Amino acid sequence: MNLSVNLNKIALLRNSRGSNTPSLEAYANKAISLGVDGLTLHPRPDHRHATSNDALNISSLCKEKSLEFNLEGNPFSQPKNEFLGFYELCLQAKPDQITLVPDGEGQLTSDSGWEPGFQDSELKSFIAKVNELNCRTSLFINADIHSVEYASDMNFDRIEIYTGPFAQACLLDKNELQINCDKIKEVINRAQHLGLGVNAGHDLSLDNIQLLKECGLIDEVSIGHAIMTDSLKYGFDATIIKYINIIREK
Ligand code: PXP
Repeated sequence: MNLSVNLNKIALLRNSRGSNTPSLEAYANKAISLGVDGLTLHPRPDHRHATSNDALNISSLCKEKSLEFNLEGNPFSQPKNEFLGFYELCLQAKPDQITLVPDGEGQLTSDSGWEPGFQDSELKSFIAKVNELNCRTSLFINADIHSVEYASDMNFDRIEIYTGPFAQACLLDKNELQINCDKIKEVINRAQHLGLGVNAGHDLSLDNIQLLKECGLIDEVSIGHAIMTDSLKYGFDATIIKYINIIREK
């Protein structure tokens, strides 16, 4: 299982003062030198955290260091003010992986996977266009069989399982957790059968990664919020090392 670190929250902190502190590039370099497998950004049209320029800069840094850059976003986000629009960003950044998320403008964070059938024909033409860029495509989905089959029908290379409900269940009772783990196991098995890779993300933390690993083989986890909050406790370097260790532990 690989670790892609989502750096949005560093950008959020930087933007709160209008300067370049903390520097996204500095923390990207630190994470890279500590051994992460990839970096992720999810620029929103309002540029409240990562900006379009950040995506271009971090993408070229990743290319320079031979590391994967994962660009997340709503494929239908149009150019607005300084935001380039998601497709234009894909064209310019040439990410290694594009993860499509159905988030609306102003939404606090992604809180659901892609509903099968949502803007079907537009999604198909978007996939056809980005396939020409030779990057991996991944669809952010809820942990259900219908969604994984939809991702396969739409020719995605991977799915990213939305792990918000799983993380919530870890904090609740054992029954809820069992139900969520069973769903994730089923989705992983179906994805493998269909030849899709499996990513997972949202609300993952040092407290729940081990349980997630027990659900089956996952190619990559993308983690942002918990890494940044843990950094307040342990420091950035020690936190990244903790995550790498738990993720690589057999
Ligand atoms: N995956 C997707 C599609 C996301 O939108 C996010 C949040 O930007 C994450 C993973 C990371 O979630 P978290 O910040 O809770 O680790």
